[in-house]
Amino acid sequence: MTVRRSVMLGCGSYLPSRILTNADLARTVDTSDEWIVQRTGIHERHIAAPGETTSHMAVHAARAALSHARVDAQSIDLIVLATSTPDNTFPASAVSVQADLGITHGAAFDLQAVCSGFVFALAAADGLLRSGAFSRALVIGAETFSRILDWTDRGTCVLFGDGAGAVVLDAQELAGTRKDRGILTVRLRSDGRHKSKLYVDGGPSSTGTVGHLRMEGREVFRHAVAMITDVVEEAFKATGTTVADVDWFIPHQANKRIIDGSAHKLGIAPGKIVTTVDRHGNTSSASIPLALADAVADRRIKRDDLLLFEAMGGGFTWGAALVRW
Ligand code: ACO
Repeated sequence: MTVRRSVMLGCGSYLPSRILTNADLARTVDTSDEWIVQRTGIHERHIAAPGETTSHMAVHAARAALSHARVDAQSIDLIVLATSTPDNTFPASAVSVQADLGITHGAAFDLQAVCSGFVFALAAADGLLRSGAFSRALVIGAETFSRILDWTDRGTCVLFGDGAGAVVLDAQELAGTRKDRGILTVRLRSDGRHKSKLYVDGGPSSTGTVGHLRMEGREVFRHAVAMITDVVEEAFKATGTTVADVDWFIPHQANKRIIDGSAHKLGIAPGKIVTTVDRHGNTSSASIPLALADAVADRRIKRDDLLLFEAMGGGFTWGAALVRW
């Protein structure tokens, strides 16, 4: 008996042209390149131009993914856009992407799970494709965190950047084994008891303002590795795979110390880790598809490679996915 799976046909990404280096930041807040690199592994990040919105970047990434997948935008009937920095409170930025791509059929919506957004969006799209309700999806992570940063707070403003990444998912009937291409499993978790450790201090129903990102960095750090490794182990168990089967580890790019700590605890060799945090900073829900597109573009990732995605973020939310490319 065959199984309906969501196969990744292609990916693409977009970064704004302006680069902000650690040295640039050291001119405006009391920090140094040495401190930022040592604590986070970040050297530089991209910052959206005035007027450049989340949906603009999402459309660029979506077009790149469609072109890489060699499919026409008209074949897309589902768009799931993971973002915590939408263009407007509503409508969803996903409908702007849909309109810019000239698509008038199917459905488009935003999904908000902060830095875990891309993994949550993959799960949502995978479920909708496998149900038979839709046949081909764009899953996008796009963020303009530069607009919600307090640029006087050196504890947070050095960590984040802007960007977008996208994948095309195609529903296909496959054998139903772990050798299949596509999404083999996605595991999601959240625990709202941690909601005040990483949040934005504004919103439509509370302050009526957009607000700024606030974080207890040490608390996030303290929980990150354990949460990530737990949900990854769950994904291995669900698929009957082990860490030895993983070809590429593509983590959410929050901080090099969290990435290395998680890889070490899981037993993943440093040579299998895809890292972009040094050049992109933390782009929240965009970081995984940005890293994927990087490693696909330079041909590290090859067809049938087993990819392990994981993320953890505000909420806390966390999740992992195993995908055969
Ligand atoms: N430059 C220089 N000094 C700084 C800076 C900075 N940019 N930021 C903080 N400091 C200072 C602090 O003021 C403090 O000084 P003090 O000792 O005189 O009070 C000192 O450095 C240590 O501060 P801590 O916050 O304790 O530093 P820590 O070693 O914990 O590193 C960091 C901070 C990098 C934020 C770390 O806690 C971390 O990586 N946390 C994870 C958070 C994260 O990655 N969040 C991303 C979003 S969540 C996600 O995507 C998973």
